[in-house]
Amino acid sequence: MRFYENLDNIHVNTEAPRTHYFPYDTLDKALAGNKYDSLYYMDLNGTWDFKFFERDIDCPSHIASWDTIPVPSCWQNHGYEHPYYTNVNYPYPVDPPYVPDDNPVGVYRRTINVSKEQAERENYIVFEGVSSCVELYINKKYAGFSTVSHSTSEFKVKLKEGKNEILAKVYKWCVGSYLEDQDFLRYNGIFRDVYILSRPVGHVTDVVVKYDDKTIECDLPHTVYDAEGRVADLTSPTLWNAEKPYLYTVVIEQAGEFVPIKVGMRSQAVSEKGELLINGVSVKLKGVNHHDTHPSKGYTMSYDDMKLDLLKMKELNINCIRTSHYPPQAAFIELCDEMGFYVVDEADNETHGFCTRASGYGYDINDIWPCMNEAWREAHIDRAARLYERDKNHSCVIMWSMGNEANYGANTDAMIEYVRDAQKDMPLKRLIHFEQANAGVHRSPDGKDYSAVDVVSRMYATIEQYKAYYEKTNDTRPYFLCEYSHAMGNGPGDVYYYWEHIYNDPRFIGGCIWEWTDHVAKNRNGELCYGGDFGEETHDGNFCCDGLTFSDRSFKAGTYEAKTAYQPMKTVLEGNTITVLNRYDFTDLSECSFRYEIVADDKTVLSSSFTLSAPPKKTAEYTIPSVNVSSRFGTFLNIYMYDANGNEVASEQHNICGGNSVASLNTAPAQITMEDEYAVVRGNGFEHRFNTHYGRIETIDGLTTSPVSLTAWRAPTDNDRNVKNDWYFSRFNMLKDKLYSCRIDGNRITVKKALSAVSREKIIDYTAVYTFYADGSITIDLDCETHLKQGQFLPRLGFEFTTDEKEFTYFAYGPYESYRDMHNASKLGVYRSSAEMEYVNYIKPQEHGNHYGARYIKLGGYEIVSDNDFEFRISEYSVNELTSKAHNFELVKDGRTYVRIDSKVSGIGSNSCGPVLADQYRLNDKNVSFSITLKKI
Ligand code: GAL
Ligand code: MG
Repeated sequence: MRFYENLDNIHVNTEAPRTHYFPYDTLDKALAGNKYDSLYYMDLNGTWDFKFFERDIDCPSHIASWDTIPVPSCWQNHGYEHPYYTNVNYPYPVDPPYVPDDNPVGVYRRTINVSKEQAERENYIVFEGVSSCVELYINKKYAGFSTVSHSTSEFKVKLKEGKNEILAKVYKWCVGSYLEDQDFLRYNGIFRDVYILSRPVGHVTDVVVKYDDKTIECDLPHTVYDAEGRVADLTSPTLWNAEKPYLYTVVIEQAGEFVPIKVGMRSQAVSEKGELLINGVSVKLKGVNHHDTHPSKGYTMSYDDMKLDLLKMKELNINCIRTSHYPPQAAFIELCDEMGFYVVDEADNETHGFCTRASGYGYDINDIWPCMNEAWREAHIDRAARLYERDKNHSCVIMWSMGNEANYGANTDAMIEYVRDAQKDMPLKRLIHFEQANAGVHRSPDGKDYSAVDVVSRMYATIEQYKAYYEKTNDTRPYFLCEYSHAMGNGPGDVYYYWEHIYNDPRFIGGCIWEWTDHVAKNRNGELCYGGDFGEETHDGNFCCDGLTFSDRSFKAGTYEAKTAYQPMKTVLEGNTITVLNRYDFTDLSECSFRYEIVADDKTVLSSSFTLSAPPKKTAEYTIPSVNVSSRFGTFLNIYMYDANGNEVASEQHNICGGNSVASLNTAPAQITMEDEYAVVRGNGFEHRFNTHYGRIETIDGLTTSPVSLTAWRAPTDNDRNVKNDWYFSRFNMLKDKLYSCRIDGNRITVKKALSAVSREKIIDYTAVYTFYADGSITIDLDCETHLKQGQFLPRLGFEFTTDEKEFTYFAYGPYESYRDMHNASKLGVYRSSAEMEYVNYIKPQEHGNHYGARYIKLGGYEIVSDNDFEFRISEYSVNELTSKAHNFELVKDGRTYVRIDSKVSGIGSNSCGPVLADQYRLNDKNVSFSITLKKI
């Protein structure tokens, strides 16, 4: 057994885990909090010598020639190996505690100059994150060893005056790797900050600040300062919450050091109703799961990268972050304190791959599982301790999470006991969280009651499952979805639906969308790659591209949908009165500003700004003037809410009055003449052709460049990943049109037809009536009878054709792509767009660009209208192109514009990992009727 495979060696010579801080040499510097100004801080980030060996045994005792590498970084981003994407499966045999014989090692070397004063002080080298473990040598002498990737390892080291050599051997794998089987692109190296703290003899080590909403206490000599740097008066303290994150600074003064610890005063409790109370207020957690991931830096996130993520989250009304599935950088937690987020802080503990070590999948009861095996006990406690001790003083932390997908056993209990015991004397007690503790009887190996955790946590549960849980138990704990609304690709489509329930149920305290951003790795051409692109032996494809934001943190329709579900305003319109509900927890509406506009078709007929005042959770009213306008599509009231900085935080739309008929025609019937198989309609400067052999329109003059066919396929979305198996089996992508009869009566052609796939029974019988008018207009009335099996649904149903037109105007839910379950961020209105603008750059090409609630499209010389809502999409890509390509950079435009006019399109949901698409969003109707008019203009 090698040293790093031995569970007795998880740390050698490391300091006991302690609270994270930087010591300063003056009070002013401590209050300013810029670590680079501290005499006691020596930054070791920068360029290091580096040498990579594919087998650690090939690393000689003396390395003659060196490369260089930036620190922090992941070596896979600097020409050594490739990232490796696997979700559940381990990337090596499941044979704990052993790792493969050929274990790569990266050797890092750096020389530093140390002054006499520094050499005389006590010196500590701190690694905030190294994957998978680090073996340290100072001046060629062994100085220690530490396993754990996402927590701090601190070593006390002896430095001499003058030059000192720091050498760190970083092994790709070690026994600790078994606890780090998170679903992500896997990287290695010194990927977080590394520095030396050079501290006066007699300095403090750990610092515990005990605080709540009334007092701040600390056993060490200290002074508390307010946010302006004055000695704080705590007789009536300003409290911290995620909306108004006020921080005090406790400065501990000892041995010539000033150690600042920032705390936000607050309380936390669970009410009898199961609510989460922050400062006595019932708070909902509008959350997201956050991994540290960057398209060209891997695990390494700079301060600016982290801040950008948090600013964008604020923009989206997110108030809660689960640090999936490990502690983030210490600076991330500090930023959460400063910017205001409720944090579910998670231990670096996931052993998911034991589920797939044999055939099948499951959380069985077997002491091969680290959580059940005594030999792994210390390693578990260690990870709980490193989580808790580093972050215990941070106000943002509301839950301690023991990890993710690691099964449940005695060692998990030991982690929980550690944290429970450690916080027993703290006035502020955070909830203990572990999703696996609640996940079903089969996870209670000894029949024990796993109520050791303080919150019922589930992932991807449906509202029905939520309700069923409380019907079966008399649990009084709050309910939390640590993961829900899987945001992969086009989606999530169900976030709004969840929140309709969460807002109305006190103990349903919220949840965290899975997940913040796509994990991708940029190749040399700047193309975004995912699993399988790196030559992995096992991989999970694009399952890592499941972010609410794209990897550059730009937004998609699903992002705005989440923003809308999380928005702090709800409005009701009755008569002329708007009732505005304040959904903030700590902000009065008087701190915001409002605007409304009344829009008739594409005209704003009235708009005005206004102010309101209402405490959190209360309502205020505002009366708008009556308007009397007639419109084609409808008159709408749009209401916008802005925060104190003028950023739009919420908006809602109400329909004030409906429009008029858009489809009525005022024209004479056309003449139809037969020419071979064609029924031809000629008029003033146009000629339409209808093929009576196939029973379909062949050309619409001035509009189409292909026949107009009835189809049901869409390029499967990531959320269609399960249902698409049925769709492919049923061959919905290759339906054949069959004509039974074609009858011409005056200006009307009636066809009876069916759609069926090769080797499959027919799926649709339909009648289509085409009526032609003298001015070139056409109406199509479609009546379909579907023959779907129980539980089966169609991707969509409607007409497709190509055109040379590129630009168009429409009335529908826009400007974002919209679907029947994902249109809450969009508004009904008139929009101008183009096939190019409708493209959404999903990493893996898929269905996109639909518009729900359509009544009108102006395309070329036609208005495509209906008095009943329809759906449409106009794209530069054919459905086959989108279906067949694996990456966005492979897509080819063929110069045509693809138009789809649909009776109905199935919704989006979040079934890439979440529940199946809810019934009301499926196209599973027995009968589908649909009428569309093409008005020549
Ligand atoms: C969950 C898991 C996450 C991620 C997600 C799928 O089960 O906790 O880490 O794998 O599924 O994207
Ligand atoms: Mg997992």
